[in-house]
Amino acid sequence: MGDNNNSIHNYYSPNDLYNKIIEGLDKLGIDLSNVTLDDLQPVDEFHIRGDTATNELIALSDFTPDQHILDVGCGIGGSTRRLSHETGCRVTGIDLSDEYIDVAQRLTQLLGMKEQVKFNACSALDLPFDDNSFDGVWSLQMNMNIEDKQSWLSECYRVLKPGGRAVFYEVCANENAPLHFPVPWAQDTSMSFLVKPDAFRDVLKSAGFEITDWNDKTNLAQKALAHMQKPVGKPTLPALGVYLLVGEDIGTKAYNLHLNLDEERVSLIETVGVKPEA
Ligand SMILES: C[S@@+](CC[C@H](N)C(=O)[O-])C[C@H]1O[C@@H](n2cnc3c(N)ncnc32)[C@H](O)[C@@H]1O
Repeated sequence: MGDNNNSIHNYYSPNDLYNKIIEGLDKLGIDLSNVTLDDLQPVDEFHIRGDTATNELIALSDFTPDQHILDVGCGIGGSTRRLSHETGCRVTGIDLSDEYIDVAQRLTQLLGMKEQVKFNACSALDLPFDDNSFDGVWSLQMNMNIEDKQSWLSECYRVLKPGGRAVFYEVCANENAPLHFPVPWAQDTSMSFLVKPDAFRDVLKSAGFEITDWNDKTNLAQKALAHMQKPVGKPTLPALGVYLLVGEDIGTKAYNLHLNLDEERVSLIETVGVKPEA
């Protein structure tokens, strides 16, 4: 693992995460034999606008029940499970963090979805799958941690079957710089590799994708985070939240994300690329 991958792996490797999530469910009075996707949503859909965005992306994806989809950078698998639940398709999630993958597997078992949803700890830059093996690719908010975007998108393209669709929902740079740090995906500049939307689009094309959909979601992200206040003093944390994934300074990280969006330092893009038929 290179130096960047090491620090990113460490950033996304909290201790004892599964038990902390179970404690959180318990505190909320949720019956563990009857946990739903919505119960876990505050902690397991780690991207801007959470399940609202996931549902919009599912509608955009056009994935069907007979398909097998690869979720690249799946985290603890919230949107992996929601995608399978809503479309009926099989989904395999991969992530660099083995702690996240362990938790993803255990939560999937808890929800009784093990037949349809599987996980694998590996890097998006070196996928352990044959060429043309998935009907679709799905990758939500992980490009920020990837310096070598060409390898990431070429790997997504390689494992996708001809005619298959790849859905991306990604934070990009914007007109202004530098970013306010820390942000939810990085403590500092050493872990954050944003490029402007045009550059992201160019890499998608050079990997071979034909772009069929391109939607700028920055406005919706700005609205979703408009209420953020600068945190003062010790944070009051809910029973379940993404602070369990990336630390108790999440209030500062979310506030900085709000500033970065409002000051046009970051943007948010939803796009679909198709691998042309041979
Ligand atoms: C902000 S989280 C998003 C997680 C998930 N897609 C979601 O929306 O809930 C970013 C994820 O990308 C993963 N990641 C970062 N670099 C990676 C790489 N090179 N290969 C695979 N996963 C990576 C991290 O471990 C983390 O789980």
